[in-house]
Amino acid sequence: MTIANPTIITSDLAAELSRATGAHPGHDCYVLTDTTTVGACLPYLYECGLPAESRIITVRAGDEHKNIEAAVQIWEFLSSSGATRKSLFINLGGGMITDLGGFAASTFKRGIRYINIPTSLLGAVDAATGGKTGINLRGLKNEVGVFNPAESTLIDVHFFKSLDAENLRSGYAEMVKHALIDTPQEWKEVLAFDLEEVDFVRLGRLVERSVRIKERVVEQDPTEKNIRKALNLGHTFGHAFETFSHRVHRPALHGYAVMWGLLCELYLSHVQLGFPKEELLRLRYMLTENYGKFEFACGDYDDLYELMTHDKKNDAGFVNFTLLGGIGDIRINCSATKEQIFETLDFYLSI
Ligand code: GLY
Repeated sequence: MTIANPTIITSDLAAELSRATGAHPGHDCYVLTDTTTVGACLPYLYECGLPAESRIITVRAGDEHKNIEAAVQIWEFLSSSGATRKSLFINLGGGMITDLGGFAASTFKRGIRYINIPTSLLGAVDAATGGKTGINLRGLKNEVGVFNPAESTLIDVHFFKSLDAENLRSGYAEMVKHALIDTPQEWKEVLAFDLEEVDFVRLGRLVERSVRIKERVVEQDPTEKNIRKALNLGHTFGHAFETFSHRVHRPALHGYAVMWGLLCELYLSHVQLGFPKEELLRLRYMLTENYGKFEFACGDYDDLYELMTHDKKNDAGFVNFTLLGGIGDIRINCSATKEQIFETLDFYLSI
């Protein structure tokens, strides 16, 4: 697989868009939006010089619509509009749009080039970079998809200024994860950022560093055979919390579930690998100050455990974790017993 061009973090989206569309002179341009971004973000793209004759495709917003029906809608639109292998496909939206649009573009006529313009912080620091594309199938997340990096990813912090505090925090959780797998210096910077009074210039610098951390990992292992699993830190517990939260009709944003998952997995790292307690306590402080806690009872442990054992990252019969021996000291393919997982849930409930 070819490695994606580096993600561009820009305060001049117009110049970058012109470069991207200029690289395809004379070829038609398609923009995938959803029912939110078509109104909230597309006008800014026109302000930045998106060609007026661009064709706009709009799918329903929400991860539940990241499915084969939406992919068919895109393929049919492209086909009936006469799109060719040289057409340019632009994904304008959060992770749902870059996953879905990346998949539709990667499979239409065996693959047309596409660029990502993420409009959420979560999408910018995670889904838009690294070449994972896909759709959900019968409730299974990202069950069908391909690895195929975007021709370029253009991140403009402008889009994040209109995000509500919860969505900003949700995206920031993935930046916390990136810092934990990187260096003590990065971890310190991420901890020091004020999520109450957001400085968007500083956020832009942190986003750039965060994306570079992900790119360095993906470059070593684009198809997640080994070190890319580092990016799953916090996600084994996190996905279980997220799915459970929907099941009990108290839906949590992805990044919130990741923060709760990070706390659990750093606790497990502390118990199994001696991850420093003071860093665990720092994360706990950040979590209680900014994210709050998802409440459940001991009676829910079996359900949560069941969700972890069904995660597709697991080989048969054991729950796979990425843990840390310290900040940046990544240990992939760790496991934990049911007792250790329950003890970790006890710890979580005790904070
Ligand atoms: N979201 C983790 C990865 O891209 O591998």
